[in-house]
Order: sequence, then C-alpha cells, then structure tokens
Amino acid sequence: MVRDHTTALEYLSTLEGKDGLSVHQLMDSDLRGGLTYNDFLVLPGKVEFPSSKVELKTKLTKKITLHAPFVSSPMDTVTESEMAIHIALLGGIGIIHHNCTAEVQAEMVRKVKKYENGFINHPIVISPKITVGEAKFMKQQFGFAGFPVTENGQLYSKLIGIVTSRDIQFVEDNSLLISEIMTRDVVTGSEGITLSQGNEILKSTKKGKLPIVDSKGNLVSMLSRTDLMKNQNFPLASKSASTKQLLCGAAVGTMPSDRERTRLLAEAGLDVLVIDSSQGNSVFQIDMIKWVKSTFPEIEVIGGNVCTREQAASLIAAGVDGLRIGMGSGSICITQEVMACGRPQGTAVYNVCKFSKEFGVPCIADGGVQNIGHITKALALGASTAMMGGMLAGTAESPGEYFYRDGKRLKAYRGMGSIDAMQKSDAKGNAATSRYFSEGDDVLVAQGVSGSVIDKGSVHKFLPYLYNGLQHSLQDIGCRSLADMRENVDAGNVRFEYRTASAQLEGGIQNLYSYEKRLHN
Ligand code: IMP
Repeated sequence: MVRDHTTALEYLSTLEGKDGLSVHQLMDSDLRGGLTYNDFLVLPGKVEFPSSKVELKTKLTKKITLHAPFVSSPMDTVTESEMAIHIALLGGIGIIHHNCTAEVQAEMVRKVKKYENGFINHPIVISPKITVGEAKFMKQQFGFAGFPVTENGQLYSKLIGIVTSRDIQFVEDNSLLISEIMTRDVVTGSEGITLSQGNEILKSTKKGKLPIVDSKGNLVSMLSRTDLMKNQNFPLASKSASTKQLLCGAAVGTMPSDRERTRLLAEAGLDVLVIDSSQGNSVFQIDMIKWVKSTFPEIEVIGGNVCTREQAASLIAAGVDGLRIGMGSGSICITQEVMACGRPQGTAVYNVCKFSKEFGVPCIADGGVQNIGHITKALALGASTAMMGGMLAGTAESPGEYFYRDGKRLKAYRGMGSIDAMQKSDAKGNAATSRYFSEGDDVLVAQGVSGSVIDKGSVHKFLPYLYNGLQHSLQDIGCRSLADMRENVDAGNVRFEYRTASAQLEGGIQNLYSYEKRLHN
C-alpha cells in the first residue's frame, strides 16, 4: 500500500533515529583513524529564513567577540598592519607576525590601533623645495594631485601649504619651486574631529582635501572628498568597546626576549596575544602564559598550537583565554612528514573543542582551510573561529609585491618554518621567532615550504565572499546562527556523513573538457 503524501511527516516521526550520524558517531572512533575536513559532509536541514539573516557572531577568546569568525595567520606573508586593519574592518581580526624586531612589530600594532576609517593616515606629503616639474610627475605617477606641503616634506611636520591640480596645471615653468606656487591659505581640520565633522567642513568649503593638524600645526592625517564619496560603513568592524579602536592581535614566542617584546606590544595597545609555537605544550609556553596573565591581565592570551586534549589541558591550566588548534594541517606545512607528529585537522578540532568547551575556552581552527566548506566544518566541529594563511595570502592587503610567472600574477607565501623564514634574523643576528625550536640552530630543520599563490584581489571582496558563503552554508544546514549550529550539533540534530574516496570525487567537477572556476564576482 502506498501512503498518502500528506502523512509523510507523521510517518517520518515514527521512524527510529535520523538520517546520517551525530557528530559523536562521526568522530568518536579511535580505531578508524583521524578525519580531515574532506572526509565528511554535513547533511542539509530545512531552509526557513533568508541567508542574509544568518548571524555569524562568535568568540575569539573568553572576553573578545567578533562579528565574523575570520582570523589571519601570524605569518610574514599574511599579516602586517594592512591586513590587520582591513580584516578588522570586515569583522575578523589579524594577528601580526613576529618575524621582525619587537619595535617594528609594535609599530605595526600601533598603526592598526590608530587607524581611523576614512582618514588618510599616511598621505603623500611634499617638501616646499621640490619643483613644479617633480610635482607634475608625482601627479602622473599617483593618479591624483592634492599634496600637503610641510616644512620638511614629512608627516608630523608643520603644514605650510597645499598643492592641487589647479596650482600646477597651467604653470609652464617646471623649474619653479612648489613654495612659489602652492596655496598657503589652507583650510584644515583639528586632530580629533570626527569623520562627519570633517565631511561637513569639506562640503561647506567646497575643498577637495582637508589636511588634519595637531595643536602645533603639524600635519597628522588628511581627508579627501573623493575618498569620502566612496567611503563605506563597516558595520561588522571589530572594535574595542571602550576606545572604539580596531582590535589587533600579535604573536610572540616563548624566549626570554619575548617578554620585552610583549611589553612593547602592550604599550602599543595590543588586545590579544598569540603565543606562537608549533607544539604548544611546553614548559616555556606554560611559563610565558602565566607571566603574561599576571603582568598584563587586560590582554587576552591565546595559547597553542595543540591538537590533543592533553596538550589543551596544560595550557588551560596555565590560564589561556583561547586556544589555537592545528599541527601539520597548514598548506605550507611539512611538520607531519618531518616530525611524525600532528593530527588530521577535523579530529584535532573536534577533540580539543569538546574538552575546552568544559572550561569556556574558545578555540581557533588553524590551518588547512581551503574553502568556505572547510570553515563551516571547522565551526560545526566546535571551533569558534578559523585562522587562515594561504586563503588570505595573495590578497592586496597581504605583505609583499606581486610578480608575474607563467602569465599569472602571484605573491610569495611561505611557511614560518621554511628555511627562508627561519633564516631571517634581527640586527643582532638572533632569529626573530622561535615557533619551531630550531630557528637558532646551526643546522635548521625545516617544517614548512616557501612558494607563491595567485592574486586574490582585495580582502574587501574576498572576505564578504567568505562571509556570505558561510551564511548560505548555515542556511542549507538549517541554522540561524553559529550559536544555533553549535547547539544543534551537540543535540544531534545537525547530522553528518563520511565521505568515501569516490564520494569525494563525486563532489568535485566531473567530465568537463574545460572549465573556469570563478568563485565570486
Ligand atoms: P594555511 O591556512 O593552511 O595556509 O595554514 C596556515 C597555518 O599553518 C598557520 O596559521 C600556522 O599554524 C601554520 N604554519 C605556518 N607556517 C608553517 C610552517 O612553516 N610549517 C608548519 N605549519 C606552519
């Protein structure tokens, strides 16, 4: 007998269990071996709301909440101030690398903390002694004119004039000095004015540029009418509730010199410190965590890396506010091959998060994220955020210059345990980092490789793509927020399934003679 269609839901409720596996059934098997993100799928739920309504708020650490679960890796080809500023504007957070002197790292943190959306903090400044010809050349080179002139031609020096297109356009004598033709009567804004106050001044004075000066008349930044017109709002921006400054993280090692580094970072206004080690469960890290927590109680401390609950327990006992999970899963990483140590990332994330949850310690799934689906899976397994290196390398905001090879526009991306990165030392010849316990040795043992990645454009396009993609993914699973997903994973309502090798092939593109894989517009 065929049942009446209208009784389908009723019939379903009489069946035992649910399709697929609970997360515990999926992961709790010691004998089967560890799982990576590609080894399983999440089964779809019911779409009952628009994807734009999906909430991606999550915790980075015990005290820090982000609007988007994205963290950029502390690697010297991924996160310096540019990346940290722009990922924070888009709701995530950047962790500034430490393969540089402590002073340089602290300056990068300061740049992020001082950043004010809409203000040009590093305008092109000229000296009164340059010629009209040179200014015309600069106009051609930068594609705009509107250069503030200061006494010594640098920022933070006394503003004495401004040169705009109109000032140089019809001057035929290119040998004239800028001081002879510049506009001396400059409308300025005072340091501390808000964006909307500056905007008002620009509108009422019909000027194109508004140099901002401090109480002594020194140039500190600038507003530009063209920038204001394209200036967006960043409703997701990660900001400190008290200072309204962007949030910024930085990484340090566990050597004695890292304590002085930490002091400088704290002075620069750092919010979160990541103790950067490929094997976090060490007495050095435990001491460092205790020292930071007692010396700078206001700074949140993320320990790691860990991939077992035993490692996690040590660092939680030492007092961390967050954990970073991953050993050997990074795209540039050869740790598992060389050290024989590590763990498939899906299993590592699941086990560590299950343990840490008992102590309210949020976890970052670090490494091996290659697409939006991997982020969803990391979060479904219990992580609160995903840290990305390779995904963000090659963006306009990552450090380094683009270069061309084989007709492709590329940027360098290298592991911090690659020989290249480990050989970088400070002025005294000391290795800058100590992530792999090998940097200072005569014989270096590499745990990473050095390579390149394709240009990904700006994070202002790429991160919204990840954000919207994640919202769609949760919509398919039937969860309205990350918190909702976590609850329903734990309750066994979100279901999973293993993916055999042939299932993985099936999930890829098949039998096309050629295709173009464009991920976003
Ligand atoms: P990805 O996002 O898969 O490219 O992995 C980035 C992560 O790999 C980083 O956040 C680090 O945890 C890790 N990592 C960075 N450099 C190395 C290395 O040289 N060897 C091993 N792991 C690395």
